[in-house]
Amino acid sequence: MALANEHYLKLKAGYLFPEIARRVQAFTDANPDVEIIRLGIGDVTQPLPPAVIDAFHQAVSEMGKPETFRGYGPEQGYQFLIDLILANDYEARSVGLDFDEVFVSDGSKCDSGNIQEIFAADNVIAVADPAYPVYVDTNVMAGRTGEADEKGRYAGLYYMPCTEANDFLPELPDRKVDIIYLCFPNNPTGAVANAKVLQAWVDYALEKRAVILFDAAYEAYITEEHIPHSIYEIPGAKECAIEFRSFSKTAGFTGTRCAYTVVPKDLLARTVSGKPVNINQLWNRRHTTKFNGVSYPVQVAAAAVYSDEGKAQVQELIRYYMENARIIRETLTSAGFTVSGGLNAPYIWMKTSAGMSSWEFFDQLLAEAHVVGTPGSGFGPSGEGYFRLSAFGNRENTEEAVARIRNKISP
Ligand code: MLT
Repeated sequence: MALANEHYLKLKAGYLFPEIARRVQAFTDANPDVEIIRLGIGDVTQPLPPAVIDAFHQAVSEMGKPETFRGYGPEQGYQFLIDLILANDYEARSVGLDFDEVFVSDGSKCDSGNIQEIFAADNVIAVADPAYPVYVDTNVMAGRTGEADEKGRYAGLYYMPCTEANDFLPELPDRKVDIIYLCFPNNPTGAVANAKVLQAWVDYALEKRAVILFDAAYEAYITEEHIPHSIYEIPGAKECAIEFRSFSKTAGFTGTRCAYTVVPKDLLARTVSGKPVNINQLWNRRHTTKFNGVSYPVQVAAAAVYSDEGKAQVQELIRYYMENARIIRETLTSAGFTVSGGLNAPYIWMKTSAGMSSWEFFDQLLAEAHVVGTPGSGFGPSGEGYFRLSAFGNRENTEEAVARIRNKISP
């Protein structure tokens, strides 16, 4: 008899974004003539930059000729892409990393979800609340938690509430934790951490021999000069942190799939008996066993992000989305809503109308303004009473969506 992984049965409802899609579908089935504007899932809307498309075309053509055809590539990624990553994303910020500390992959969702596999089942996991749901759900699936309580908090996880009172920044745990998920710029709140805040986390992790899983998928949206883009800008971080980076939000690769994860060779975990274990080697073992590499054309396309034209075109894309963020933030603020985020991140985090739960607000917005956002409670119990709007729409839809909210929904 095959036994199911019963840890899956602890998961609350469906994964957040398919659940939203299901509710929107039900609404559109019942109201087929209504024009819905989607500012829910953080999916880009603007096409890939021309430099990326040109490179993609050329690489596809190479695959069609015997002399340039390629089969399996290195599971960790082609050297030409990793060299560009090292030079542009790290050396340019005075961070030195080795070639074999970078693992190219098909997404930060997969990597941030899979990484927990290389850590023991009885580690205590700390997550910001609210947080990107993948961090929690993958640990539930792996059996690191008990059941969820009525607020949706899983037994055994250490939650770090991020509220207005602490500027949406998680506070250092008051008990020992082993693995800490941090995401800056933050999804969903849009909060950012300065070097002092990050240094406190690195110091904590070094002292407790904990590991920080640092999700930097939105670093390209940082506009303020003094905010670090990488955890490795912080002294000591290479001994305690893994970093996730993605081309999805930076260069429009949500449908194309390319990302990378940095696992420094200085990062050690320990066996129960206290013997040091090189985490880079474990991740390499996992990656090469379970993954066969990102396709050659996609890696060539990603490499074009670092060309002069690519960089300029990517900057243009980011400016476009950040102008959307400004429009959302300013329009909703002037309409009387309490709004944060959207300054160094493509997400706006707003309070729901007085007394409304996140899902009630979702339903009201859908029914009356025909706008889709993401209920804050979907990111964790402390997200209750909040709502996230994405700046990744096109300009016309973004302007129309906020005009509808201003005209139809009272704060
Ligand atoms: C989000 O909306 O939070 C993101 O699109 C999720 C993701 O990147 O997987």
